[in-house]
Amino acid sequence: MTELLIWALLFVAAIILIVSLQVLKVIKIFIKESISPSPFATAEEKEQFRLLAAQREAEEKAKPSIWTKIMGLKPMAEEKDLMMEHEFDGIAELNNPTPAWFSVLFYGTIIFAIGYMFNYHVFNWGKSQEEEYAIELREAEEARIAFLQKPGAGGPQINENNMEQSTDKEMIQKGAALFKTVCTPCHGEHGEGGVGPNLTDEFWLHGGGAKDIFKTIKYGVPEKGMVAWEKSMNAKQISDITNYVLSLKGSNPAGAKAPQGKKE
Ligand code: HEC
Repeated sequence: MTELLIWALLFVAAIILIVSLQVLKVIKIFIKESISPSPFATAEEKEQFRLLAAQREAEEKAKPSIWTKIMGLKPMAEEKDLMMEHEFDGIAELNNPTPAWFSVLFYGTIIFAIGYMFNYHVFNWGKSQEEEYAIELREAEEARIAFLQKPGAGGPQINENNMEQSTDKEMIQKGAALFKTVCTPCHGEHGEGGVGPNLTDEFWLHGGGAKDIFKTIKYGVPEKGMVAWEKSMNAKQISDITNYVLSLKGSNPAGAKAPQGKKE
């Protein structure tokens, strides 16, 4: 706020300075004119001034404009000097110079290319697309880890890095209820397997630890038909289901699907 005030004051001071200088000029002229008034111009002098002004204007007009220069245009009067030697049916060709804008562009690309080559291929100052991509991936991964480690509103958010198995009855029950509604169609009512693998045996495609299972449920295996549940469930729900799945181990349900993956 004070900064703004200072700037405003400076601005006003500058304006006052300019105005006072102008006033000073006027006063000087006034004093000079009242001491020795300059005579009015005679008709002859006026005519001279007019001629001079007209001459200056004509000179100004004769000069090619910036536009004409950029476009490399020549006045019509000079066309006869540009005429090339051949002619057909009264149609002649003009040897017009390459327009300046085109030359600038053309040499500009050459200079740019040299700079580009030294930057990316000789001194390797600049990063290639692959390097930039790798850096962005790394940054995204770091941001993801930082995000997962950030404590949520209600205590630290559960994620695939800090998930721990719990045998809490209530949690397992909640997980079971969720499992019944969303996972049963593919993994069977008791996790015995169906379209998806058997979740009750010791064999796992993507790891059987609490963190592994949490991760599989969260991100899914989209290319194999396992949904990424993070889109429709929160971390607590995924954790409850994980605990439920872990509790199924060795339950040997009827109609269990053949083992898939590695034994753990
Ligand atoms: C649309 C069918 C479908 C649904 C619904 C589904 N899954 Fe899956 N799931 C699969 C398939 C298919 C696989 C095997 C992926 C593979 O081959 O890599 C799988 C794999 C898994 C695995 C890894 C098994 C291993 O061997 O590593 C777990 C854990 C799992 N699902 C848990 C769940 C849970 C929990 C739910 C409910 C929230 C669920 N799935 C819902 C189809 C499904």
